[in-house]
Amino acid sequence: MKWTALSAASGATSHKRKRQVRQMEITFRLNGEIVRTPTTHTHSLLDYLRETRGLTGTKEGCNEGDCGACTVMVHDERGTHALNACILFMPQLHGKSVTTVEGLSRGETLHPVQEAMIQEHGSQCGFCTPGIVMSLAAAHAKGETNHADVLAGNLCRCTGYAPILRAAEKAAPQLAPHLSPAPLDVPALIDRPETSDELAALYVLNPKATLIAGATDVGLWVTKRLMDLDDVIFLGGVKDLVGITETDSALTIRAMTPIADLAPAIAPLCPSLAEMFRRFSSVQVRTAATLGGNIANGSPIGDSPPPLIAANATLTLRRGDTRRTLVLEDYFLAYGKQDRQASEFVEHITVPKAGLTDLRVYKLSKRFDQDISAVCGAFNLTVEDDIITAARIAFGGMAATPKRASAVEAALIGQPFTRTTIAAALPAFAQDFQPLSDMRASADYRLHSAQNMLVRYLMERTTNDAPTSVLEVRP
Ligand SMILES: Cc1cc2nc3c(=O)[nH]c(=O)nc-3n(C[C@H](O)[C@H](O)[C@H](O)COP(=O)(O)OP(=O)(O)OC[C@H]3O[C@@H](n4cnc5c(N)ncnc54)[C@H](O)[C@@H]3O)c2cc1C
Ligand code: FES
Ligand code: FES
Repeated sequence: MKWTALSAASGATSHKRKRQVRQMEITFRLNGEIVRTPTTHTHSLLDYLRETRGLTGTKEGCNEGDCGACTVMVHDERGTHALNACILFMPQLHGKSVTTVEGLSRGETLHPVQEAMIQEHGSQCGFCTPGIVMSLAAAHAKGETNHADVLAGNLCRCTGYAPILRAAEKAAPQLAPHLSPAPLDVPALIDRPETSDELAALYVLNPKATLIAGATDVGLWVTKRLMDLDDVIFLGGVKDLVGITETDSALTIRAMTPIADLAPAIAPLCPSLAEMFRRFSSVQVRTAATLGGNIANGSPIGDSPPPLIAANATLTLRRGDTRRTLVLEDYFLAYGKQDRQASEFVEHITVPKAGLTDLRVYKLSKRFDQDISAVCGAFNLTVEDDIITAARIAFGGMAATPKRASAVEAALIGQPFTRTTIAAALPAFAQDFQPLSDMRASADYRLHSAQNMLVRYLMERTTNDAPTSVLEVRP
């Protein structure tokens, strides 16, 4: 890595103070051209494209990963992905290739999804259109045909989605130009370790550094909170922190495993949890976001901790060569405070398969797609001879941390698994939780919804074990 210190006016404060900005040189491919460029740690790809390269086809809408107007395609050794350029830091692209909407067509020949969008009248004001086209082109490259899922992270306010979905269907069988260039052979960067041993050593030397995994949280610290982050370690190059190992008894999910990889691995063991991961944000965010980041950030509304706590998962943290393993719920100490020592990082999460058998997860949010949970409830009751012999119930959105419903659990254990038992346990929710009112839900609504989720769990497990579809309207 090359370090340069240059003087720059910080955009982070209203008074233009001078500060030292650390730079590094990265190499990546942009629409076929190999680019070597100095960059700061938190320069977004969106700003680079629009301001440095004049590639203004990639639009800025929300600048926080929500609207998809900035969607580009990124190609790496794992394939082709749609990602939001607004929360993608330039160093995350080292060794990768980027295709923007300007690089999609070949001369006068449009990509099949561009052609189909025109034929099906899939665009009106057009602001969202480049991002939509990039999402559809990435899905086309992967042969994905669940177009509604693919478009969950692309907002269009004028056209309505029907013509866009028709365009996606029309383009699906057509041949497209090959858009997956080989990864580049690039020099290592000091603050982008390539093994977890290197990461462990670097983090011991630099305990104050901010770890950046997928940057779907950290990106917003920069674009919305306008934080300066000079001292960082990028985890994106640490290949041995990616992946899921399955044994007869457990799944071990390494910290840098993208959220997008979880649903396929978990679906055979727990369809309800897989469905929750399908509703975790959008394709663009799920592809960048990691499970380690979702746990490490300690958010009270993170979607993975409640089901993983209910499944009795453990968390393994590493500092230098020392590892320790704790039950997941013990990691969350208080709002913004986790049981993580200086230089410790999340290495992996182990989920016992036995904890997934009876697990059900209910995510309650204002929209089905791409929305943060108002309440996320996870239920795991063991029933033997019609008696509840063990209970693990955990919630997000109900307290300052992801939290177990200990009083409810105590009210259930030893009782018959019946409507009467459930009704008798409902008042215990108020002992466990005093939720807040905020823009997502009132305290009352949260409490009642959490109680109703327990009723739903009973109904689902006792009525042919049929899951309730939240999209289905019943009389
Ligand atoms: C539009 C949008 C929608 C979202 N929707 C959802 C949603 O539906 N449900 C939900 O739960 N979340 C959601 N999020 C939040 C976010 O995507 C998740 O929390 C994500 O899992 C964070 O992972 P990351 O890899 O991007 O973490 P980063 O942003 O890279 O890091 C997050 C935090 O974790 C730390 N960290 C990362 N990896 C490690 C590690 N291995 N060890 C120690 N510390 C580490 C970082 O230092 C930082 O403090 C959404 C975010 C956006 C922008
Ligand atoms: S600008 Fe909205 S997702 Fe990037
Ligand atoms: S065409 Fe206007 S927002 Fe989609």
